[in-house]
Amino acid sequence: MKVLSGIQPSGQLHIGNYFGMMQPMIRNMERSELYVFIVNLHAMTSVHNKQRLADGTLEAAADFMALGLDPDRCIFWVQGDVPEVTELTWVLSTIAPLGLMERCHSYKDKVSKGIMPSLGLFSYPVLMAADILLYQANVVPVGKDQKQHLEVARDIAIKFNHTFGETFVVPEPAIEEKVATVPGVDGQKMSKSYGNTISIFLDEKELKKRVMSITTDATPVEDPKNPDTCNLFQIFKLFAPEDRLAEVHSLYVDGGAAYGYIKQELVGYIWDYFQGARERRDQLVRDPAYLKEILAKGAEKAREKAVVTLDMVRDRAGLKY
Ligand code: ADP
Ligand code: TRP
Repeated sequence: MKVLSGIQPSGQLHIGNYFGMMQPMIRNMERSELYVFIVNLHAMTSVHNKQRLADGTLEAAADFMALGLDPDRCIFWVQGDVPEVTELTWVLSTIAPLGLMERCHSYKDKVSKGIMPSLGLFSYPVLMAADILLYQANVVPVGKDQKQHLEVARDIAIKFNHTFGETFVVPEPAIEEKVATVPGVDGQKMSKSYGNTISIFLDEKELKKRVMSITTDATPVEDPKNPDTCNLFQIFKLFAPEDRLAEVHSLYVDGGAAYGYIKQELVGYIWDYFQGARERRDQLVRDPAYLKEILAKGAEKAREKAVVTLDMVRDRAGLKY
């Protein structure tokens, strides 16, 4: 089974990215043929700064490897290093129904957050469909926000197969319900573009500041509170050991949960949780040549797969004459 997912190098990776996508992918290393890539072409829809995109790409690679992705047990590359994906994007865009594209929420959401409305931003889901279909992925682990994009990829695959004959695997999303949407410090979905993230690799002081800024209500300590609607509890849940989680849950329900105290405790858990990864990351970022070598090897392997699919697409569509 082929499992594939990508991440944008458009800012510091955060705990929503980790629990929504990176951790499920790393766990998949054990049992699947795994494809992981850094989507620098997608990031161009919001980053128009050479240094930021280039540095962000290597940092995302270091982050993923520090968190446990082993490039010897998967194919790990940078999207733009396999140019076949852009040709497939064009072919798919000629069959992607405009109405389907117009129904995508993420374009409107991003524009409302101040991202420039470009043609690339509008057709972002077609490039994403090409990413998935080019490698004939069966399963795509993502957070809930990407569900609609997966539906678009499926619709396009079905339409292509119907129009030109069986060519693409129709992919399935894999969304872990428990962590489908990690809330940000303001209670909205945690997202780089909302400025509400807790980044994975902050220094201790910054981490403390971010955790302390998690918004909570003004219910007095002694009063009962609903853990399910409290974004602090939703984040706490991801890191606390089970027995402690049960205790804090009871404090919410029965009264006695002190937000400030829980936040302090959470800082400690997050810090410890990523301690090993932090040390590995420090080493990796000091060796960009090594990272580039890993990514170049990954791109070579990915490309071998990509050309096979693209050749078939060209044939079916009549681009070979
Ligand atoms: P962002 O919204 O911060 O820009 P990306 O769009 O780069 O994040 O998302 C990368 C991956 O992380 C995707 O699979 C996405 O679904 C997942 N993800 C992002 N934010 C969250 C979140 N708050 N909770 C769960 N998963 C998330
Ligand atoms: N759109 C995804 C996001 O913002 C990133 C992405 C691009 C992706 N191509 C993909 C995810 C292919 C899964 C499969 O998070």
